[in-house]
Amino acid sequence: MKIKRKKFVITIDGPASSGKSTTAKMLAKKLNCIYIDSGSMYRAVALYLKDNSIDLENENALKEVLYEINIEILYKPEKNENAIFLNGKDVSTKIRNSEITNYSSIIAKKKIIRERMVELQRKMAETQSIIMDGRDIGTVVFPDADFKFFLKASIDERAKRRFLEMKDKSASSETESRFSRVWRMDNISLGKIKKDLKWRDRTDSNREISPLKMANDAIEIDTTNLTIEEQTQKILDILKYEITL
Ligand code: CDP
Repeated sequence: MKIKRKKFVITIDGPASSGKSTTAKMLAKKLNCIYIDSGSMYRAVALYLKDNSIDLENENALKEVLYEINIEILYKPEKNENAIFLNGKDVSTKIRNSEITNYSSIIAKKKIIRERMVELQRKMAETQSIIMDGRDIGTVVFPDADFKFFLKASIDERAKRRFLEMKDKSASSETESRFSRVWRMDNISLGKIKKDLKWRDRTDSNREISPLKMANDAIEIDTTNLTIEEQTQKILDILKYEITL
């Protein structure tokens, strides 16, 4: 499928675990373009700041660090997904643990960090068509995007999805030591996941800068009772008048 426009930007925003990234990935395959999960960038910054014990209140240190950090997102065809590199190291798995997940929501409140991420995100769309998902993509990063979607789902459904995703990843992660695998399994409880999701939704929605919000011109899709295939198809159905087969 090809979108009639030469170059296009599609934004997908929504709360944690609403299916944004998986939908973006499937859409990108259908539309033959790249997808960027902007959350992975905030997660990579969170990992760097944590690993290097950078004080979030020290603006000068943050400023320096932000230009030391090199974030690259590369498509891995064998897995049909993106890998994220932080200063040359693949951190795709590391950025998904619950400590970094929650910390990413804290560091994402900082203006200086957001400004740098937005700059990088806009650069990615300069020369190519793109589908980007996140919290502020349709409102702040690409207010003039060609198509904007906002995905939502009930908290119970989102917690269930994150639980299954974590269990799945934990079981298939062969590169990690037995110790870390056991540690991760212990931490997977539906109750904790739900609590963390609620906390993150609150933190992301109530922050001063670029809070999680639906753009006025976005199309809202409730994915609670939809499979990933169904929600992707729903978006494709909406795009079909703009698409040539
Ligand atoms: O995958 P999930 O929906 O759980 O989260 P994510 O998209 O990987 O984002 C992780 C965190 O980064 C979010 O909780 C936000 O605090 C932050 N984020 C943001 O502030 N702005 C974005 N455009 C994307 C993520």
